[in-house]
Amino acid sequence: MIILAIESSCDETAMAIVEDGRKILSNTVYTQIAIHTMYGGVVPEVASREHIKKVTYVLDEVLKQANMTLDDIDAVAVTKEPGLIGSLMVGVNTAKTISLCYNKPLIYVNHIHGHIYANYLEEDFNFPLLALVVSGGHTELVLMKDHMDFEILGETLDDAVGEAYDKVARVVNVGYPGGPIIDKMAHIGTPTYPLPHIKLSKDSLDFSFSGLKSAVINLCHNANQRGETIDANNLAASFQNAVIDVLVSKTVLAATMHNVKQVIIAGGVAANKGLRNAMQEAMNNLNIKLTVPQFKYCTDNAAMIAAAGYHKYIKEKKN
Ligand code: KG4
Ligand code: ZN
Repeated sequence: MIILAIESSCDETAMAIVEDGRKILSNTVYTQIAIHTMYGGVVPEVASREHIKKVTYVLDEVLKQANMTLDDIDAVAVTKEPGLIGSLMVGVNTAKTISLCYNKPLIYVNHIHGHIYANYLEEDFNFPLLALVVSGGHTELVLMKDHMDFEILGETLDDAVGEAYDKVARVVNVGYPGGPIIDKMAHIGTPTYPLPHIKLSKDSLDFSFSGLKSAVINLCHNANQRGETIDANNLAASFQNAVIDVLVSKTVLAATMHNVKQVIIAGGVAANKGLRNAMQEAMNNLNIKLTVPQFKYCTDNAAMIAAAGYHKYIKEKKN
């Protein structure tokens, strides 16, 4: 089954053509990062307009790469939610138009399910499976007992991890998006600053990152007032250390409680090298298989939407 997938929930206009949920025939991402960088974050109205400008070019490109026409595809999958409403509408309207004009089934995909299925592009799922979802808008531990079956075991009570990364990057003035930059700085620095590792109660699977974010802001503010300089690399290392400790220990707790066979990491923060290494070590100790997406499929892309769309379609056909 050949699926054309469209993703436009935030600041990437992305399309992919994928066979049977895994074989990537073409994959195109047009990113608006350069445009939003000057504002220090995504401006929704600007994002929607950029999607409109680029959507037909991206469609041409993805078909050309696969050497196909719209007649050759079997279905269209598109991200329906969550995301910026104006941005989502561009992708959804494009998918609806193709579906109507070419008489192809339309599959609506949840963006977070897409991030989870970025791991299916790598290998099969072995249930029960635990997904740690860490993106710009979400931080969740999700238990899956079957394909497209999601039970949220815990989630952030305030900020998402990616959001905290972006905020810290803004405080130390290193640019947007902050995650990859802070990740690099953390590898240069040493975790010398005392920051809180907020784990809530011992058996809670929820997260909280706003206290850590505030601690970084206060540390910078106080240093500024005293005329002291902050070692930005050491601060990045201290912040990343706190984040990874919390994410890994909650994942270990959930994996043990639910006796899972596989752990996967999903969302933009899954690209974090420190997190990938620390999680691998923890899973080796538990003897649980860890799967992570390739770097290019961690952040927003349409191949992951095709993978999730494929499984949604199959499941709905069965029922
Ligand atoms: O999943 P994603 O592309 O978009 C959402 O669905 O939100 O995630 C984007 C987030 C941003 O906050 C970005 O700073 C973060 O993922 N990110 C990272 C890394 N690469 C991207 N955070 C930490 N380390 C990275 N290497
Ligand atoms: Zn995303």
